[in-house]
Amino acid sequence: MKVECKPSKVVTFERLNFNETNRILYHMEVSLEGTDIRYEPGDSIGIYPVNDPVQVAMIIEVLDVDPQTEITVKQSEEKLSFEKFLLSRVNLSRCTRELVTLVQQNVKDPINKEKLTHILDPEYGLLYEEIYDSYHVWDFLVEFLDKDLPIQEFCDTFLELLPRYYSCASTMNVVGDQVDLLVGLDVYISGKYQRKGICSYYLAELLKAYEDEIDIFHLPAPHFKLPEDTSTPIIMIGPGTGLAPFRGFLQERQYQEESSKNWLIFGDRHEEHNFYYKDYILNLVENEILKFDAAWSRDQDHKVYVQDIMRNYSEEVWKWLEEGAHLYVCGDAERMAKHVKKALLEIIQTHGKMSSKDAKNHLKAMRLSKRFQQDVY
Ligand SMILES: Cc1cc2nc3c(=O)[nH]c(=O)nc-3n(C[C@H](O)[C@H](O)[C@H](O)COP(=O)(O)OP(=O)(O)OC[C@H]3O[C@@H](n4cnc5c(N)ncnc54)[C@H](O)[C@@H]3O)c2cc1C
Ligand SMILES: NC(=O)c1ccc[n+]([C@@H]2O[C@H](COP(=O)([O-])OP(=O)(O)OC[C@H]3O[C@@H](n4cnc5c(N)ncnc54)[C@H](OP(=O)(O)O)[C@@H]3O)[C@@H](O)[C@H]2O)c1
Repeated sequence: MKVECKPSKVVTFERLNFNETNRILYHMEVSLEGTDIRYEPGDSIGIYPVNDPVQVAMIIEVLDVDPQTEITVKQSEEKLSFEKFLLSRVNLSRCTRELVTLVQQNVKDPINKEKLTHILDPEYGLLYEEIYDSYHVWDFLVEFLDKDLPIQEFCDTFLELLPRYYSCASTMNVVGDQVDLLVGLDVYISGKYQRKGICSYYLAELLKAYEDEIDIFHLPAPHFKLPEDTSTPIIMIGPGTGLAPFRGFLQERQYQEESSKNWLIFGDRHEEHNFYYKDYILNLVENEILKFDAAWSRDQDHKVYVQDIMRNYSEEVWKWLEEGAHLYVCGDAERMAKHVKKALLEIIQTHGKMSSKDAKNHLKAMRLSKRFQQDVY
């Protein structure tokens, strides 16, 4: 069910890197005027995307249905045109088992029918998962469908189009009724095609068609907050889009007059192209508000990542932790966050002269006392 949203205007939308087409980051500023959204640094903003109209038109063409046909949304009983339903309510990048079953029941071609029967048979193990991971709805229909589908039944097979979250890269104490976001265009290969992430493509390419208006809501993050005591040092580890909340943290720490030491460990591909918010960061360094280190992963013949910087400065990381620093990690959950945690455990073990078990307990205690906080995705 859709969370209650506020219509908001994107007032600034700026591309930050120009060397690649497959991994573009954008700085967005969204006006919160007329909304009651009051966020804190560390929180996120939920955005409901709209699907690519070209994809929608292609699906309508394959099905050969009048786009204005009225359908009922299964979850809410709401009546909508088929076109609007495809644009705004369902995930067109995943083929559910129900969709594969419906096509299997309706397909005429005996070879495709048998193929789909195998795919749906649990005895054949991973075959359905392969469909899930290599097809979007349009290319699945093109490959397998040769007959009309009952449209309401087709509509009932979809996954809901869920909101995506973006970390607040600002504080209201500095930017007022506005939130800044750092959005990475998600490009990936699945099956035979290069694809673009639903929401990041919507933000990057489709906003103009909606007069820069987006549907947003506030997602508080009680697990990812600056220390209440402004004299507490902080270490922020955020490669890629993981940088976003730390821009908000830094704005807030600058706003707090008596705030303590700040250390940002950032990582991205190339210093020349991917040093986002460079002037802002270098200005903080110049004014001795920030200690800054970066891992430029592709500027030399071997990879350098944020966890390598942590290891290089392990003694200093430990010293800051001993001074009571809170350590924050934001960004990729699947690999980066695990490797950063491993490096942190090594630092605790080595400099704290602890066994592996004691180091793990130490990190657990840090987590429970909010001195180790993560917002990873
Ligand atoms: C709390 C939180 C904060 C976040 N903050 C930020 C932020 O500040 N900036 C930011 O850029 N992002 C942030 N994210 C991530 C963001 O919410 C989105 O997940 C991201 O933008 C991708 O969404 P999308 O709709 O563009 O891609 P989606 O369409 O959701 O695709 C995402 C991934 O799913 C996989 N996928 C989808 N369909 C298929 C398929 N058929 N076959 C194979 N693989 C498939 C691909 O790997 C693809 O890369 C945050 C996430 C969370 C939870
Ligand atoms: N599931 C995955 O495999 C995967 C991987 C990356 C990103 N993502 C997702 O892609 C989205 C955007 O990512 P992003 O643009 O924020 O940044 P990103 O793709 O994570 O890249 C940022 C920096 O992190 C480096 N990096 C790669 N692997 C790392 C590791 N194991 N440990 C530490 N650093 C590592 C990258 O180096 P190199 O690129 O030079 O290796 C790059 O310099 C996020 O939603 C993220 O979750 C998923």
